[in-house]
Amino acid sequence: MELVFATNNRHKLEEVGQILGAAYTLKTPADCGLTGDIPEEQDTLEGNALQKARYVKLHTGLDCFADDTGMEVTALGGAPGVRSARYATDGHNPEANMALLLKNLDGVADRTARFRTVIALILDGKEYLFEGEVRGHIGEVPAGDKGFGYDPVFIPEGYNETFAQLPPQVKNAISHRAEAVNKLAVFLKSYKG
Ligand code: IMP
Repeated sequence: MELVFATNNRHKLEEVGQILGAAYTLKTPADCGLTGDIPEEQDTLEGNALQKARYVKLHTGLDCFADDTGMEVTALGGAPGVRSARYATDGHNPEANMALLLKNLDGVADRTARFRTVIALILDGKEYLFEGEVRGHIGEVPAGDKGFGYDPVFIPEGYNETFAQLPPQVKNAISHRAEAVNKLAVFLKSYKG
């Protein structure tokens, strides 16, 4: 089955492709001639995932899905949340985002946090939502060079290393995105159309 994954992030495409398996061919918007930024202007993860999927559907006519992820820190009232990508600056600057997060948690005892992913799927003209989360805590300093985004500061529950230190297979088995994509995969496998 061919699906457009509404992302320009190669890391995500690889992660999701590994989880979905060989039965699915994922195309990017660029593969379908859709270049430029995909709008994500809503104030919830659900709203952004739907906005991105609807945009790709409108411009390609193809079945597609989009995800939106937030890092939600308990002591910061769920921030940065839907603003995770633009926490410190207007652009995507993971180092600045992590630095601001660590600054805002300076001296804070409760460092619990979670990543939460929402996937919006548009299939045969209908919309479906899937959600995944992974709980953990924010480390004192960034560590590791794998993964992307906030991975160097996030230590998942049950582990002593960050997502950026753990092997990608471990992250892919337990991550927020893995849980949401696994739900998507279960749905697609049983889909009768
Ligand atoms: P997006 O919604 O997936 O674009 O992600 C929003 C923000 O969360 C971006 O700053 C990403 O770098 C970050 N992010 C998303 N997924 C992950 C992840 O798996 N690990 C670390 N950071 C992530």
